[in-house]
Amino acid sequence: MSRRLAFLALAALLPLSAAAQTPAEIDRRVEDLLGRMTLEEKIGQLHLGSNGPGFRPDQVRRGFVGGLMNFNDAPDVARVQAMAREGRNGIPLLIGLDILQGFRTIFPVPLAQAASFDPAMAREAAAIAAREASAAGVNWTFAPMADLSRDPRWGRAVEGSGEDPLMNRLFTAARVEGFRAGGLATSLKHFVGYGGAIGGRDYDVSEIGPGDLRDLHLPAFKSGVEAGAETVMASLNALDGVPGAVNEAMLNGVLRRDWGFRGFVVSDWDGVKELMAHGVAADGAEASRRALMAGVDMDMESGLFVRHLPDEIAAGRVPVSRVDEAARRILRIKMEMGLFGRPDPDPVAASRAIMLPESRAKARAAARDSMVLLTNRGALPFAPGVRSIALVGAMAGNGADQLGPHAARGWPDESVTIRRGLEERAGRAGVRVAYAPGCDAECRTTEGFAEAVRAAGEADVVVAVMGEPRTQSGEGASRVSLDLPGRQGELLDALIATGKPVVVVLMTGRPLLLGPRLDRVAGLVMAWYPGTEGGPALAELLFGDAAPSGRLPVSWPRHVGQVPLTYNRLPSGRPSAPDNRFTLGYMDESLEPLFPFGFGLSYTAFAYSDLTVLTPRAGVEDEIRVRVRVTNTGTRAGREVAQLYVRDPVATRSRPVRELKAFEAVRLEPGESREVTFRVAASDLGFHLTDGTFVVEPGAFQVWAGGDARAALEGRFEVVGGLRRAAR
Ligand code: NOJ
Repeated sequence: MSRRLAFLALAALLPLSAAAQTPAEIDRRVEDLLGRMTLEEKIGQLHLGSNGPGFRPDQVRRGFVGGLMNFNDAPDVARVQAMAREGRNGIPLLIGLDILQGFRTIFPVPLAQAASFDPAMAREAAAIAAREASAAGVNWTFAPMADLSRDPRWGRAVEGSGEDPLMNRLFTAARVEGFRAGGLATSLKHFVGYGGAIGGRDYDVSEIGPGDLRDLHLPAFKSGVEAGAETVMASLNALDGVPGAVNEAMLNGVLRRDWGFRGFVVSDWDGVKELMAHGVAADGAEASRRALMAGVDMDMESGLFVRHLPDEIAAGRVPVSRVDEAARRILRIKMEMGLFGRPDPDPVAASRAIMLPESRAKARAAARDSMVLLTNRGALPFAPGVRSIALVGAMAGNGADQLGPHAARGWPDESVTIRRGLEERAGRAGVRVAYAPGCDAECRTTEGFAEAVRAAGEADVVVAVMGEPRTQSGEGASRVSLDLPGRQGELLDALIATGKPVVVVLMTGRPLLLGPRLDRVAGLVMAWYPGTEGGPALAELLFGDAAPSGRLPVSWPRHVGQVPLTYNRLPSGRPSAPDNRFTLGYMDESLEPLFPFGFGLSYTAFAYSDLTVLTPRAGVEDEIRVRVRVTNTGTRAGREVAQLYVRDPVATRSRPVRELKAFEAVRLEPGESREVTFRVAASDLGFHLTDGTFVVEPGAFQVWAGGDARAALEGRFEVVGGLRRAAR
């Protein structure tokens, strides 16, 4: 093995601090380097440029650029790193890219991964993505997204882990660990409250009360910091009128002072420049000054730091010590990552690191474990009598949409489409598949409907792949409607009218509504954007080679007018009473979701019994243990996600009607029964008062165990003592 290959192999195995230097040694080296740098060079480190029209090789060569984004090929990265070495100090570049669900081998989108209720899978997906990307010379991902998103109209909900703060915490930490293990630095984004953009409108403001901010939105960022995130990205949007890039209380206060974060803060794309449009800075100079002083260390793309900070410093409006501090933080991360002296990426090694068969196999398993079976009227798995399938839907036949938005370097040609996956599996069983897309992915015309209907009429079962092409999901893809876009609803009506059983497979990043059609379909599978191996994964489930086991990480509304709708809402002083209109609810729609959080069907059934609270009285330092028996009462093996919910019925501030506090997946053979013991630290039952004080209040708690947020098996325990920690 060549030395370079040996290094790459080693780098892939070691965490980022592979350089094996003590923090004190790193600090010494950073100070030494800083001492040799000019002010211009230090400010240069604060600039993150991008591939594209604004790319300035001359600036890189002079050492006036700290990082570059959107370079993702080994030769390109090697070229720009060589340019950086021409600078007086030869400081290596951070090479950043949005790597979310994969680099080349694409896993299911982050929200789908959450549906597996398996953070270890998300950790592994991140590690594989990171290994592929770092072999190509990328060393920094703008991920994970830790925003708690509770509004499916917001397209970016697809990038997160759903509506629940515990899930968000666990998945965020797992992803940080995975990316780091694979050799990438991470950027927790978007600090903070972006997921609360009102109306689900991307880039709009967030209005989040101080208690909810600390209880719901901050915990995932904290867990990401604790997992070792090197950088944090300031949100583009404003929280209570304060844009993320000038939110000093959050950046310098919560993040640095309270949590001890030692990495650096990067703005989002043009986030410094947009301070002017936000109306908090009159010009670029003020925007730069305010962002830097609020705690932003690196300016993504706008170039305003480079343009204005020299004058701001000369005029005494920005202390040079603040520039030193920001440059110090950036250099320290570069040294901790071992970027100095790291060999350039080697194209041959990079091409050998991608799309490994074992990575594909993991992506397939992840896709299978994250799909959620929502409705099944006996259509699934396919019975032996099914000899022919009509496959409808453009997204079943193109390899691009299944990769989802932000698919880094995922190549549509390398996807195994649903069409191919189904044809191959059906072929082995001697089952015919007739493919008729019906319309293109946007489904704006009906010309192809007749052929699809004909195919449906000739088949034993219809599989209709519908949803949102990936351009209708992710950033800038907010919607007012949760209906099937384009004319897909009409297509579905026409398929249903054939009288053949129709299984709808949704490819999308948010719950979509079928309306009354839902009662007429034979099955509904939420496949999300399942990634490179989505086709075979779906085929395994449809044919019953494996049983579905994904569970919803979001509440699925009945009507778009209900959103935001979450299972863990706060109680009302007027709890819903069906026969009293002056209680919580709507006149024209139920308050209940269509499918609750945590819900998903299997090909078998599970029963819960014998709930026992093993710790009826617990102190705040203790762990609460609750045991329950889970039994597979059906005739097939399956994986159940057992869930534990808690409520604090009387507290200083209203507590949610239910909160997920623990879950555990169990695989059970038919008739098999197993005890699951959930463990919850009593300190996890705490919450924040509106002044920021954290409290665990003594008293009685209710607890439920079951297979979704409606879990009915109930117990009680008591917390004695209590805890109170003042906000700093
Ligand atoms: C803007 C997005 O908000 C952010 O999430 C992303 O990392 C950057 N663009 C860079 O692509």
